[in-house]
Amino acid sequence: MATYIPQLAHADPDHFGISLVAADGANFETGDADHAFTIQSISKPFTFGMALEEFGPQEVAHRVGVEPSGDAFNSIELQNGTNRPHNPMINAGAIAVTALLHSRYGSATFDAVLHRLSAAAGRRLVVDECVYESERSTGHRNRAIAHLLLNFGLVHSEAERALDVYFRQCAILVTCHDLAVMGATLANMGRNPRTGELVFDIITVKHVLSIMFTCGMYDYSGEWAYRVGVPAKSGVSGGLLAIVNRQMAIACYSPRLDNRGNSCRGIDVCTELAATFGLHAFDCLNVGSSFLQSVL
Ligand code: DON
Repeated sequence: MATYIPQLAHADPDHFGISLVAADGANFETGDADHAFTIQSISKPFTFGMALEEFGPQEVAHRVGVEPSGDAFNSIELQNGTNRPHNPMINAGAIAVTALLHSRYGSATFDAVLHRLSAAAGRRLVVDECVYESERSTGHRNRAIAHLLLNFGLVHSEAERALDVYFRQCAILVTCHDLAVMGATLANMGRNPRTGELVFDIITVKHVLSIMFTCGMYDYSGEWAYRVGVPAKSGVSGGLLAIVNRQMAIACYSPRLDNRGNSCRGIDVCTELAATFGLHAFDCLNVGSSFLQSVL
């Protein structure tokens, strides 16, 4: 399990939950699907979507690229030439995105993030203050990244405040069920299928799912695209969210991680479901929507 955020080491490694929410809102779940854990990096696609809507793709592209890095999620490396972080799914890119939001919303940034993630989940989410404090007081590597970005003029002068928002967004508590509803909102073209609320516009969803497809699993992203073949995002507390576009979201929670920071059982669950039901985007058996219709 992740221990570099000390509070995460207290999780029960045996917790295991799966929730599946279809694009029409139907829900199937098993195990510890209602156990709350911190969202961590799975917040990144959602803040990226917010920044795209707030600033437009061109402005966002000045701050962060869209290339897979092939590096670890916490790598301290920027793109040659532009000095931008490689993509918004790794820590450096996500910090740049949150800082961009902070440059506009200031002290209201975290509330705006919490509000949007809550709309995607269909309920008011809250923060785990212990995990937040644990990361805030030990997150020296992310602090170094924020200052490196400041050095290159990629974040505004309030880098520390923006970083604080980033730590808080990572400490938002979700269950597998919440994550699956958030994912189903993306699968359903930005509209939360449980509440009917339009949370992201359709162009944003296209951009967000593209980045999740190419960069969401860090230095496992290529292999994930090859084996599972759907947009996804993992978090270091053990959450994993996979999206089958226009069909459903699969959310899994199991805290034991592989050496890339992805949930071991989460990967197995998605790999097996994708193989069984032909969910891979390029699988000729990808009849997911009719499959779902046949069981609903
Ligand atoms: O910034 C960090 O290191 C964490 N708050 C989030 C990292 C994370 O979830 C990476 N995921 N596998």
